[in-house]
Amino acid sequence: MSSYDVIGDPAFFGKVWAEDYDDGTELDPTPAVDFLAPMAGGRRTLELAIGTGRVALPLAARGVPVEGVEGSELMAAKLAAKPGGANVPVTIGDMADVPVTGRFALVYLVFNTIFNLVDARRQADCFANVARVLEPDGAFVIETYVPDPSQFPGGKRVQALWADVESAAIEVYDVDLAAQRFVSQKIIFTADGIRLKPHAQRYTYPGELDLMAERAGLHLTERHESWTRRPFTGASKGHISVYRPM
Ligand SMILES: C[S@@+](CC[C@H](N)C(=O)[O-])C[C@H]1O[C@@H](n2cnc3c(N)ncnc32)[C@H](O)[C@@H]1O
Repeated sequence: MSSYDVIGDPAFFGKVWAEDYDDGTELDPTPAVDFLAPMAGGRRTLELAIGTGRVALPLAARGVPVEGVEGSELMAAKLAAKPGGANVPVTIGDMADVPVTGRFALVYLVFNTIFNLVDARRQADCFANVARVLEPDGAFVIETYVPDPSQFPGGKRVQALWADVESAAIEVYDVDLAAQRFVSQKIIFTADGIRLKPHAQRYTYPGELDLMAERAGLHLTERHESWTRRPFTGASKGHISVYRPM
């Protein structure tokens, strides 16, 4: 079994990251919520890989009926324990299968998480299954970075993260440049020992995502560099893309 098979298990992320996900993720959800709330228009909304509710909870607080799909029971339990969490229904399963019934006006998948599907075919399955559950006037919103393989010369990278009086940390990447995917290890050194935090992603270029969408019967209607709708250019490091049924 390869590292990708192990890390690609939908429940794996939570086993490694659930414990301190909320402490380590300082990304402000407000710009995403400002973008998504009017698009939902008060109609049924689904977050794929909802995690601990970083975006879903403030969105629900704006009156949007949000539901979620999540691969990790540990992440979902963190969400359920938060104020308002009990009002956000979560289906445990693989986001590539979109294991829900009925139709949604808005489906969203943020924070580069489509890349957690470490196989291009499963990313394409995700688009196809989102198309299955979207209302005819619905929208699928994705947030990811734009891949930059020059960050991994020869397919390898070691990055210094921090050093203080109690600990130090590095991140090591091993990239399969042909398959566009990597395994990484965040390695934390303390007086008590070494902690490993593995991760894997299959990174996909915007044009490939558009092709997956088209094959699923969706087409790109908006692409921005940021949630605040800064124009997407060749220099953009990330994108917010909106796909709608053709
Ligand atoms: C980076 S976190 C993002 C969580 C949340 N969307 C946010 O923005 O904070 C990635 C999430 O994807 C979930 N996940 C990873 N692979 C998955 C899969 N195949 N199906 C469903 N959830 C998955 C993880 O358990 C984790 O909650």
